[in-house]
Amino acid sequence: MLQQLVLLSAAACVAAKTLSNSIDRNKLLLISFDGFRWDYDQDVDTPNLDQLVVDGVKAKYLTPPMLTMTSPSHFTTITGRWVEDHEVVHNMMYDTETNLKVPHKTTLTKSEWWDNGTLPLWITAQDQGLKTASFFFPGGGANYSGQAVNRVVVQNSGHPDDNETEWIQNIDKVMSWFSEEDFDFVALYYGEPDNVGHAKGPNHPDRKKIIQQIDRTIGYLRRAIQQHGLTNSLNVIITSDHGMTTIKKRPMVDEIILNKYLNLITLNSFEILDYGGFGILKPRPGKDFHLGKSQRLPPIVVIADLGFNLNSRFIVYVNKGDHGFHNGEMDMKTIFRAFGPDFKKNLLTEAFDSIHIYPLMCRLLQIQPAPHNGSLAVTQEMLINNSGSRSSVGVSGFLLLLLVFTMVY
Ligand SMILES: *[C@@H]1O[C@H](CO)[C@@H](O)[C@H](O)[C@H]1NC(C)=O
Ligand SMILES: *[C@@H]1O[C@H](CO)[C@@H](O)[C@H](O)[C@H]1NC(C)=O
Ligand SMILES: *[C@@H]1O[C@H](CO)[C@@H](O)[C@H](O)[C@H]1NC(C)=O
Ligand SMILES: *[C@@H]1O[C@H](CO)[C@@H](O)[C@H](O)[C@H]1NC(C)=O
Ligand SMILES: *[C@@H]1O[C@H](CO)[C@@H](O)[C@H](O)[C@H]1NC(C)=O
Ligand SMILES: [Zn+2]
Repeated sequence: MLQQLVLLSAAACVAAKTLSNSIDRNKLLLISFDGFRWDYDQDVDTPNLDQLVVDGVKAKYLTPPMLTMTSPSHFTTITGRWVEDHEVVHNMMYDTETNLKVPHKTTLTKSEWWDNGTLPLWITAQDQGLKTASFFFPGGGANYSGQAVNRVVVQNSGHPDDNETEWIQNIDKVMSWFSEEDFDFVALYYGEPDNVGHAKGPNHPDRKKIIQQIDRTIGYLRRAIQQHGLTNSLNVIITSDHGMTTIKKRPMVDEIILNKYLNLITLNSFEILDYGGFGILKPRPGKDFHLGKSQRLPPIVVIADLGFNLNSRFIVYVNKGDHGFHNGEMDMKTIFRAFGPDFKKNLLTEAFDSIHIYPLMCRLLQIQPAPHNGSLAVTQEMLINNSGSRSSVGVSGFLLLLLVFTMVY
C-alpha cells in the first residue's frame, strides 16, 4: 500500500450585490431532492423532467460546495455562503471538547447548530417584508438571531421519505400557502433519492424507480401550479445538495482494515464513525495543522478517493452508495432546473457552483441580499429580464487545503 499525500488547491470567488427597488416581484418555490446526482434522469424515462428543459432552464450540472453533505450543502444554497463561513460543517452536530454527538434529524431544531451569524434567505426576505416558509428544508426549523421562519414544517425522526401520497399532499399544502395565504418564498425538501442511493447504490433498479416517482411528482406540481392560477406568478427552482457514488466492496477492491495496523483508540482523541466519504479527526495537542478559518471543523479533514469509505475501529459503514467525496468528482455533481415567468425557455446553461443560486433567488424576490459569496453574473443569463441589476463585484481569494489520502494497491 502506497500512501500519497496530495496538497490541494486554491479558489477565488466573486461576491456580487444586486441593488433593486422594484416591487414587481413574482413568488419563488425552491425544491430540493436530496442526493439527486446530475445524470440520474439519463437512464430513466422522465417525461416531466424533460418537459421542464423545454419550458425552462437546465444547467448541465451543478457543483455543490465542499463538504458534499446534506446540511452543509443545503445551507450554502439557502445562504450563498461557503461552509467555512456559515459553519454548518456536518449533518450531525458534535462537540470536540465533550465528544457529544447529535444525529441529523435531532439537529434540525437546534438553533445553535444552524445559527452562527449567517442569515438564511428566509430571514433576510422576512426582514424586507416578504412572507416565507420552510417545508422540511434543512435549517428551516432553527431560529436566527432569535427570529423564526414565518412558517415551518420540520421532519420528524423516523418519518418515511418516500411516500408518494404524502409528496403530493405536501405540494398541495405549499400551493395553498402561495395562492391563499400569499407566501412569497417557500423552500421544500424531499429526502429522496438519497436514501435509496445509500441503501441500494446509485445503479440499482430501485433508484430508477424513485426517479420516476420524482418525475410524476414534478408532473403533479406543474398541474397544481396551473390549477392554483400561479403559472404567471410563480418561479420554481429544482435542485439538490450532492450526487452519489457506488462504494467499492470486496471482491472489487481489497478493503484495508486500518484497525489492524493502527491503534485508533490511542491515536485519536476524537473521531466520527458515522460517515464514510470523508472523515474528520481531532489530533492530539501539538500535532495539529491549520485548515480554513472554520472554528467548528476539526483541523484535519480526510477525503477518501471516490468509492472508498473511511471506517474506524469497527466496520460501521455499510452503505452501497455514498457522497461526501470531493466536489470535483462528477459523481458528486447534482442538478439545477428552473422555470416560471422570469426564466427563459429551452435554455441549457453551463455547469455552475450551487453558491450562485442565492443571489439568483434574491434577484427573483427583488430583495437586497445579505453578504454572500455567490455572483449573480453567473446565473442572470437565465432570466428574461437580465437588465436593471446593477452589480458591484468584489473579489477575494482564499486557500483551501485538503489532505487527500490516495491509496494505491
Ligand atoms: C459560532 O460557532 C462557534 C463554534 O461553535 C462559536 O464559538 C461561536 O460563538 C459561534 N458564533 C455565533 C455568532 O454564533
Ligand atoms: C424560536 O423562537 C420562538 C419564539 O421565541 C420559540 O417559541 C421557539 O421555541 C424557538 N425555536 C427554536 C428551534 O429555538
Ligand atoms: C402515506 O401517506 C398517506 C398520507 O399521509 C398515509 O395515509 C399513508 O398511510 C402513508 N403510507 C405509508 C406506507 O406510510
Ligand atoms: C464570503 O463572503 C463573506 C461575507 O461577505 C466574506 O466575509 C468572506 O470573506 C467571503 N469568502 C470568500 C472566500 O471570499
Ligand atoms: C427589468 O428589471 C428591472 C430591475 O428589476 C426593472 O427596473 C425593469 O422595469 C424590468 N424590465 C422589464 C421589461 O420588466
Ligand atoms: Zn443529502
